[in-house]
Amino acid sequence: MAVKYELIKVCKQSGARLGRLHTPHGTIDTPVFMPVGTQATVKAMSPEELKEMGAGIILGNTYHLFLRPGHAIVREAGGLHGFMNWDRAILTDSGGFQVFSLSDLREITDEGVSFRSHLSGEKLFISPEKSIEIQNALGADIIMAFDECPPYPADREYVRASTERTARWAERCLEAHQRPDEQALFGIVQGGMYRDLREESARQLTALDFPGYAVGGLSVGEPKELMYEVLEYTTPLLPANKPRYLMGVGSPDALIEGVIRGIDMFDCVLPTRIARNGTTMTSQGRIVIRNAKYARDFTPLDPECDCYTCRNYTRAYLRHLIKADEIFGLRLTTYHNLYFLLNLMNQVRQAIAEDRLLDFRDAFFEKYYGANQ
Ligand code: GUN
Ligand code: ZN
Repeated sequence: MAVKYELIKVCKQSGARLGRLHTPHGTIDTPVFMPVGTQATVKAMSPEELKEMGAGIILGNTYHLFLRPGHAIVREAGGLHGFMNWDRAILTDSGGFQVFSLSDLREITDEGVSFRSHLSGEKLFISPEKSIEIQNALGADIIMAFDECPPYPADREYVRASTERTARWAERCLEAHQRPDEQALFGIVQGGMYRDLREESARQLTALDFPGYAVGGLSVGEPKELMYEVLEYTTPLLPANKPRYLMGVGSPDALIEGVIRGIDMFDCVLPTRIARNGTTMTSQGRIVIRNAKYARDFTPLDPECDCYTCRNYTRAYLRHLIKADEIFGLRLTTYHNLYFLLNLMNQVRQAIAEDRLLDFRDAFFEKYYGANQ
């Protein structure tokens, strides 16, 4: 098997899991945050910088790499690892979610999804088999089943039919997978915000015995409390000896609340995306560095952070660079935001090890959200 999850301990205070994920490209301590590298690059960061900040696994996207440069080219380059010079672990998302959020004129049938490329306008088609063919060529350590993420809100009948289809597609993905010894294929539980549909989806997916499971269809515009509620009844339905991945979630509160509800892996574009317009996450909450009040602030972005950005530059300088549209500015804010979330997960793992994750959460929220929200 390509990937093995080792459960180290469960936090006595919160029920959160501390574990290790063994992959062909290294072992990852979980819970983990995975930076997103959609187009075979984590925007503005070099692999050396990502390693320096402690990233052990990053994401790639089937949809984008299929459109450009094409999976044949990536395969010829030695897969994503060779192509982008990243020798640690990679996970690729299956493309379904991105087709729905980015492309035009999609049409979904049992066979797959037809859509127009958001780049060329060309008419394209991705089926479960095609998604796996692309992901086998990209060669990530973890690949994802092709699924449909229903919008929010969506009526029950729509979500029921969609979730059934996702289950049928999951089976076809397993069937199509050519490299199970090198790449672990994870199933994705859907079911929208309907408890019985989540239960049914979890039952169907776990029956297929995937080496890991994702919870999809969350963080799609629903209230956070609703997401936590869905997680609370969904994660206990997943096998304890396999990793659990909450897709598309990366705000500090949702990371901690997700871990408390049994999640081991997270990814999100949030830290890198907001960094590029000058919004940063600090121990005191979010800081919009463009704000005039930082013009003469010669202190570090986050006085409690020891990242490259915070050790060497001031808020005034970052504000100037971002306002002047200088590339270095967004490199520095991106570096800090990723470091902040990786460091947050280090602290979360430490708190689980010491059975005090609820205390850690309360202290963290007090500082992060107490001050300016
Ligand atoms: N990214 C965020 N949510 C989802 C989801 O439901 N499915 C997939 N494939 N990717 C996601
Ligand atoms: Zn920093």
